[in-house]
This record gives sequence, structure tokens and C-alpha cells, in this order.
Amino acid sequence: MNNFTFYSPTEFVFGKDTELQTGELVRKYNGHKALIVYGGGSVVRSGLLDRVKTSLKNAGVEFVELGGVQPNPTDPKVYEGIDLGRSEKVDFLLPVGGGSVIDTAKAIAAGILYDGDFWDFYVGKVVIKKALRLGVVLTIPAAGSEGSGNSVITKVDGLKKLSVRTPEALRPAFAVMNPELTYTLPAWQTASGVTDMMAHIMERYFSNTQGVEIADRMCEGVLKSIITEAPKVIADPKDYNARANIMWAGTVAHNGTCGVGCVEDWASHFMEHEVSAVYDVTHGAGLAVIFPAWLTYMADHNVHKVAQFAERVWDVPASDDKKAVALEGIARFKKFLKAIGMPVTFKELGIENPDIDLLVKKLHENKGELVGNYVQLDKKATREIYELANR
Ligand code: NZQ
Ligand code: ZN
Repeated sequence: MNNFTFYSPTEFVFGKDTELQTGELVRKYNGHKALIVYGGGSVVRSGLLDRVKTSLKNAGVEFVELGGVQPNPTDPKVYEGIDLGRSEKVDFLLPVGGGSVIDTAKAIAAGILYDGDFWDFYVGKVVIKKALRLGVVLTIPAAGSEGSGNSVITKVDGLKKLSVRTPEALRPAFAVMNPELTYTLPAWQTASGVTDMMAHIMERYFSNTQGVEIADRMCEGVLKSIITEAPKVIADPKDYNARANIMWAGTVAHNGTCGVGCVEDWASHFMEHEVSAVYDVTHGAGLAVIFPAWLTYMADHNVHKVAQFAERVWDVPASDDKKAVALEGIARFKKFLKAIGMPVTFKELGIENPDIDLLVKKLHENKGELVGNYVQLDKKATREIYELANR
């Protein structure tokens, strides 16, 4: 196991009616005037936004609003939020929504306190040293941004979808998580979220670091629970306990616990970010296409952990033929994804003729000559994986 620092100061407030505590929580973390950030309107239609505003008023917290964040969030909304936040002198960010809304709020929180262009953080020119405090009301278990120190934004000019990871500055002070708020999710978003959280675990699990039994078993345990609970929420969107388990799984998948002490991979995520940047597809659905292709490549190039994944997560009987075990595990993974309504090829994702040249070019421009760690992938390898996803 490698040395590690694990810093996760977020207060998670979980369960029914917890959104009614939002105002008190903002006060607790010294917020006096909040910038509420939300998406395309689901929180307006569900009445959640009104309940959050009432809670803020009851706690004596002032607020202004910024709506209209789109999935795969882009830079213009961040600039708009920075201008609004500065002119209104807000001291707290309150995203009410999913990863896109939270990531936009994180970018605004850092951008308000920075004299230059916030995009400097995402291209790695400047490290985020400080940001306004931020608290989250989560409406979709998926990206895990409520417990992560990450933010992912797309620059419209050049369609660059880039992530930044600065836990010290960007981890939310609190996250309100009421599983009942997820009852209104369309099945597609539920399933995409499930796929994304599985991918967050797998990016950590596929590691060559030795002696990480705790991390391995946590990854396998959470994956197995997701595999049991996901079909329940698809079959009955109002199954409270299944929704609650899936919601908490989304957080532990990405708050760092599952990867402590390991060299993590992340090639599948970087490969998917190019797909959702160019084709504006749902991130989790993009991963349902990319991750099985990545695993198939790994069955030929570093089979050990893929076979372990097949045996321990998908209950494939052990055998000396590790590759056969691995391929059977991948087949079961794909079957699961299809059963919850996910695509597993570009075509099923609605992309008939993906521009693989462009995807490979952008990927290596953004991430360098070699991508990932489980096996370091050059241009030839990433092309092969995109092609596997196109079969
Ligand atoms: O915009 P509204 O109207 O709210 O609708 C949203 C949106 O259309 C809808 N939705 C959310 N909660 C709902 C709901 N509809 C009905 N009822 C509810 N309770 O769902 C749609 C998707 O929302 P979005 O915020 O985009 O989802 P998600 O949480 O999957 O976030 C995806 C973004 O996060 C990034 C992805 O790349 C993508 O840009 N990621 C962020 C990470 C992080 N910050 O740590 C890590 C991830 O790997 C990921 O890359
Ligand atoms: Zn993800």
C-alpha cells in the first residue's frame, strides 16, 4: 500500500426531509449570502427550490439565483456566475442539483476569488488555493461531486472538457442527501448515474499497487451492492431503501475511500470526456460504452485484476485460463448494463460513425502521450479501445 493523505471534511446530512436543514447548515458554515445554482428546471418543477429558499429565509440567509446550467456544463455559465457572485457580494455557493450544477458552482467559488481567468485552473496553469465555501443539495447520485474535490467543465471554444482536482479547496462543507429527491429521475439518468459510480470505483480498483486488500474489498463490496440495488430502483423508482443505498454508493464511490493507497487509473474517464465533449452525450452512458472496451483491451494486456473482478464481482468460477474468466466477467458486466437500459456500443449510444481520429487527437492533446496507469496507453492503444467500443 502506498503512503496517502485522505482529507474528506464534508458533513453528509442524509435522509428524508433533510433539505429543510439547508439554511441552518449554510449558517453553520458562516454563509450569509448564498448564490443558489441550479440546472434546467427539475428542481423548480419538483418544488425543491422553493423548499430550499424557505429554509434559507427561515435561517436569515440572503440569496441570489443562477439557473440554466446544462448537463456537460460549459464555461459561459461559470463566467456569468462569477460576475453575478461578485456584484452581489455572495460569500457562499449553494448548488441544488447534480454533478453539472455542483461542478459549475465549484468553478464559480474558485473563480470569484481569483484575479485571472478561471480556466487557468483547468488547464493546469494555476493551482486553486482558495475558494468560497460551498454546500450541496444533491438530486442525482452519479458524479459523486458532493463528496469529491473535483470539478469538470467544458470550454465551448475547442470543446475541451477538462477536470481539476483540489480537495483542500473544492470539497463541499456539507452535502444534503435526501433519497426521495431522486424519485423523479428519468430511468436513463438513474442508470447513467449507476454506471458512472461503478466506473468511479473501477478507476480505483484497476491498479497494480500491491497490498491494498482493504481498498479491493471495499471496491468489490460496493460494486456488488450496486449490482443488487440498481435493478430495484429501475423497477420501482420509489423504493426508498434501494434509492438510499444507490445514493450513498455514489458518494463512497468517489470521495476517495475506495482508492486510498492505490495508484488509480482514470483512462476510461479521460477517453469518455472526449466523447461527451464532442457528442454531448450523458457521461455515464458514455462510460457504459468505453469501460467494457477498456476491459476487453486489458484482458489481453494485463489480465490479472480483470480476472479478479470477474471472479469476485461477477461470480465467474475461477480457472487457470485467466483470459477466459476475464472475458466472461466483461460479458456479465455488459449484460447488466443492457438490463438497466444502457448502451454498450457507440451505435447504441446514438453515434453512428464516431470520429475516432478526432477523439484520439483531442485525448492526447489534453492528457499527453500516455494515458492511464493500469496499462499506460499510447495513441495506438486508445485508438484500439475506441474501435472496440465501435463494434
Ligand atoms: O438540469 P435539470 O433540469 O436539473 O435536469 C437534470 C439533468 O438534465 C436531471 N436531474 C437531476 N436531478 C434530477 C433530474 N431530473 C429529475 N429529477 C431529479 N431529481 O438529470 C440530468 C443530468 O444532470 P447532471 O448534473 O448533468 O448529472 P450528473 O450528476 O451525472 O453530472 C454529470 C457531470 O458531472 C461530470 C460529468 O463529466 C458531467 O459533466 N463529472 C463530475 C465529477 C466530479 N465533479 O467529481 C466526476 C465524474 O466522473 C464526472 O466526470
Ligand atoms: Zn464519472
